[in-house]
Amino acid sequence: MTTTSRRSSGALRGLCLAAALLLLLLASCGLRGAHPGELGQGLRAAAANLKTANLGSEAQERVVLVTGATGRTGLQTYQELKKRAGVRVRALVRNATKAAALLDCGPCGSEQGIFVGDVTKPKSLPKAAFQGVDTLIVLTSAKPIKSKSGKWTFPKGGWPKEVDWKGQVVQFEAAVASGVDHVVLVSTAGTTAPEPPYIPMPGHDFFFKLNAEAVLMQSQLRFTIVKPCGLTNAKVPFASQVGHCDELPHPVTMPLISRSKVAEICVEAAIDPARSAHARFDVCNDPLRPGQADDFDKLFAKAKKLDCFRSMWAPVVEQS
Ligand SMILES: *[C@@H]1O[C@H](CO)[C@@H](O)[C@H](O)[C@H]1NC(C)=O
Repeated sequence: MTTTSRRSSGALRGLCLAAALLLLLLASCGLRGAHPGELGQGLRAAAANLKTANLGSEAQERVVLVTGATGRTGLQTYQELKKRAGVRVRALVRNATKAAALLDCGPCGSEQGIFVGDVTKPKSLPKAAFQGVDTLIVLTSAKPIKSKSGKWTFPKGGWPKEVDWKGQVVQFEAAVASGVDHVVLVSTAGTTAPEPPYIPMPGHDFFFKLNAEAVLMQSQLRFTIVKPCGLTNAKVPFASQVGHCDELPHPVTMPLISRSKVAEICVEAAIDPARSAHARFDVCNDPLRPGQADDFDKLFAKAKKLDCFRSMWAPVVEQS
């Protein structure tokens, strides 16, 4: 075994652990209360009316809509976008009271870019939220809860099939219908393992997230699909490394990434789609680069490369 292949199998083990941890730590900006039968109904008709935006001079700003904006990663993404020049940020939330408490949005109405809707109830999605949007950042995610018996489950109406699958696809449909240019989707690393035995949750959330990724990629939308390892609120003191297909260049013993880092990646992706679009990538901390900041030009350049198994070919080429 070459150093290269040892490294990559270490990385793969790391990713497996990452996936398990991810589920324990995974956040969510989750959505409740599904009416799956409503899926898609009315959405296209509603969205047909959305192209009428006349933004005048404000059209120079990038309009960025964050869904799941009161969730743990969504909130940080919203806050980071607010700090950026040339960006007008909007939020789609289920709970206006929670939004008012968290988003520092004054009266927190549509004037302030705050829209109320539930992606598991497509008819509830406000047309105006998507109108004139340049980049949609999807940070909705099913949020597991512990049942009384101590087992992991999901709230009624908030299962991965309802939130991570249908609830994401309706957002892509709304984006297409309203002329959105670019979508940043936060999914998860670990989606190459079918029925991973180390995942303690029911509901097949990786499977449904992967399906949503596929739908986004088959749309005409420009896409940036971020697949983080285990999410944590802690500050992970390393620069990020990018991989593909659940392979990372450097093995990780702590397969974690800060939510603040994922938020920053989403923001950097949204403000410059030319740099970030057509990328689908795993991202985790890089233990070889402690205390370093990320260079996002380099990060997205690596993210766009197709380099799943090059490290595996290398020994074969050497032997022949
Ligand atoms: C909305 O958020 C507020 C504040 O966090 C909370 O007290 C309330 O229960 C939430 N409402 C629903 C329907 O979840």
